[in-house]
Amino acid sequence: MRFDTPATTNPIDQLKVIGHPLSRIDGPLKTTGTAPYAYERHDVAANAAYGYIVGSAIAKGRIASIDLSQAKKASGVLAIVTADNAGKLGKGQRNYAMLLGGPEIQHYHQAIALVVAETFEQARAAAQLVRVHYVPEKGAFDLAALTHSAKPAEVLDGPADTKVGNFDETFAAAPVQLDATYTTPDESHAMMEPHASIAAWDGDKVTLWTSNQMIAWTATDLAKTLGIDKAKVRVDSPFIGGGFGGKLFLRADALLAVLGARAAGRPVKVALTRPMMFNNTTHRPATIQRVRFGASRDGKITAIGHESWSGNLPDGRPEAAVSQTRLLYAGANRLTTTRLAMLDLAEGNAMRAPGEAPGMMALEIAVDEMAERLGMDPIEFRILNDTQVDPERPQRPFSQRQLTECMRIGADRFGWSKRDARPGRVRDGRWLVGTGVAAAFRNNLLTKSAARVRLDNSGIVTVETDMTDIGTGSYTIIAQTAAEMMGVPLEKVRVHLGDSSFPVSAGSGGQWGANNSTAGVYAACVKLREAVAQKLGFNTTDAVFADGEVRSGNRSVPLAQAARDGALSGEDGIEYGDLGKKYQQSTFGAHFVEVGVDTATAEIRVRRMLAVCAAGRILNPKTARSQVIGAMTMGVGAALMEELVVDKRSGFFVNHDLAAYEVPVHADIPHQDVIFLDETDPMSSPMKAKGVAELGICGVGAAVANAVHNATGIRVRDYPITLDKLLDRLPNVG
Ligand code: MOS
Repeated sequence: MRFDTPATTNPIDQLKVIGHPLSRIDGPLKTTGTAPYAYERHDVAANAAYGYIVGSAIAKGRIASIDLSQAKKASGVLAIVTADNAGKLGKGQRNYAMLLGGPEIQHYHQAIALVVAETFEQARAAAQLVRVHYVPEKGAFDLAALTHSAKPAEVLDGPADTKVGNFDETFAAAPVQLDATYTTPDESHAMMEPHASIAAWDGDKVTLWTSNQMIAWTATDLAKTLGIDKAKVRVDSPFIGGGFGGKLFLRADALLAVLGARAAGRPVKVALTRPMMFNNTTHRPATIQRVRFGASRDGKITAIGHESWSGNLPDGRPEAAVSQTRLLYAGANRLTTTRLAMLDLAEGNAMRAPGEAPGMMALEIAVDEMAERLGMDPIEFRILNDTQVDPERPQRPFSQRQLTECMRIGADRFGWSKRDARPGRVRDGRWLVGTGVAAAFRNNLLTKSAARVRLDNSGIVTVETDMTDIGTGSYTIIAQTAAEMMGVPLEKVRVHLGDSSFPVSAGSGGQWGANNSTAGVYAACVKLREAVAQKLGFNTTDAVFADGEVRSGNRSVPLAQAARDGALSGEDGIEYGDLGKKYQQSTFGAHFVEVGVDTATAEIRVRRMLAVCAAGRILNPKTARSQVIGAMTMGVGAALMEELVVDKRSGFFVNHDLAAYEVPVHADIPHQDVIFLDETDPMSSPMKAKGVAELGICGVGAAVANAVHNATGIRVRDYPITLDKLLDRLPNVG
């Protein structure tokens, strides 16, 4: 189905199942511990051996030699895979470094060997006996020291730089100016489930049970890396314990399980240990961001400039931290630049809202600082500079844009009018209390997605698509979509996901999963409805599917009747025309945060949070709310805790475990609230939906920073906002 004209009324608008706050259909499997995660596929891996990865102990250089003799003799060892014996390996299209390194070493903890043994403990013990002789080279690890050599680099969805009007002159002439630099650190996804895979060969065919967000990308890149036909590769990933972008790609656990299984002649399972994950996999790259605003005295922005620096391996991309600045506020004179430095750290890549998440952390503090200089309320400043068209290409309107509404409704609900804008004025016992606000913004990405739907003679509707559920609720919203389209209750729908033998979906990433994957199911259901109508002698255009029946005029037939002679099926996908080009499709929101800062220790406590989101039709308010609350929590982590500390001499992330890489937990944030505006976006798809899972993190860090400023008068421009950055500047309030 080609979607190239705005959606009109369709069966989804019945809202009998869609739009309801239904619990996850996969919930019972998860809460009873029976959902088969990759490492627990006991059914397929009864005979599996265990692989243990050896990571490089240097960040850059060469392996002169590896001595495997002791390791090979260790008890239980079946095989040891290294670059020397693995055969010729290619590189996946989406991998910036080799997943099995050697002799060249590209980053610390790059996998250089897999030891396969009868038990995990034997594999681990033997791995300690692998002797590697390295020839280290000097690497580049310090982004701040490399900004001068950084080069312009294109971002995924746009050019490196954009220029509109005359930024330099207008900024210089502006009566009110801000010129400030902000930094965000390297961050790790730190999902609950580590990267884990089981691989088994059957002749020249391989099956990979893994934990992965993008099945088709991974199957393609596995085939490419092995140099085999994609038809020989099957990837299956029905349950995933979180990804956040860290599982978008083929990674070392998967490739090495495949190579290990080939070498051992048995199924092999490989999980990354937690301490291996931080340097072996991808991370969100650190940024340095300079933001400049010029405005008239009445608060109209005349010049807006945002320049961003980040680093990556030679084949890598920059962090697209200026993306939102191209779209968020009006202003006739504009400049954005993206610079990329070559670093020898592990691969930088997508992490929840790549681009906007760190970009908004800088931009939305700058907006707060600018409002302060203008003596304006930060909400009024944002609303005054709202735009309903793409400010770089004014002929393109936004398909929907309710930023102002999010701000106003949030202000009302949060009690913003009671706020004292003067910093350091509110005390609650030993706490200085402050509130902050930030806009939320994240683009809505359209990408094709397919599915297959089957009706059997008991009236069960079965959906198959390679879409993944990374803890987001995909199973549930896909079941809701099929139930709505076929006119059956949710209990009559079965959903099978994550298998590369199913039609190729959008997958889970970039908050595109919900809208695109359900639109693909919609398209397949349209096909199945046609088959049903034809079988039962109805006219497709006026047949109504509801309450387990197909109706037209005064005739009605049970749906299951259509399959009495055998199951009927429909397969199709959604493909997009140019509505995503003619209209700028984005999601909007407002984040409100109240913090307390301890007057003696500078400890920061988040006291309450509110997010107001405008993101098209909300397919399931319960799963969507969980996504936004999770994203808000992750935003607090970015604001206050998360930082991969770079050892700038040896080139690795020092704090590579969950004891030293801290993330917030439930008890850190006592009160979180989410409001969804009632919105449908007919430009996005027949579902009229968008995504929320990344919108929810964008802006949170700045809202926290702005609240800390309101509490204390201190501006921290370098994340995370840890107490050492406040302590010697705390107001003397004792
Ligand atoms: Mo997302 S960072 O594209 O999983």
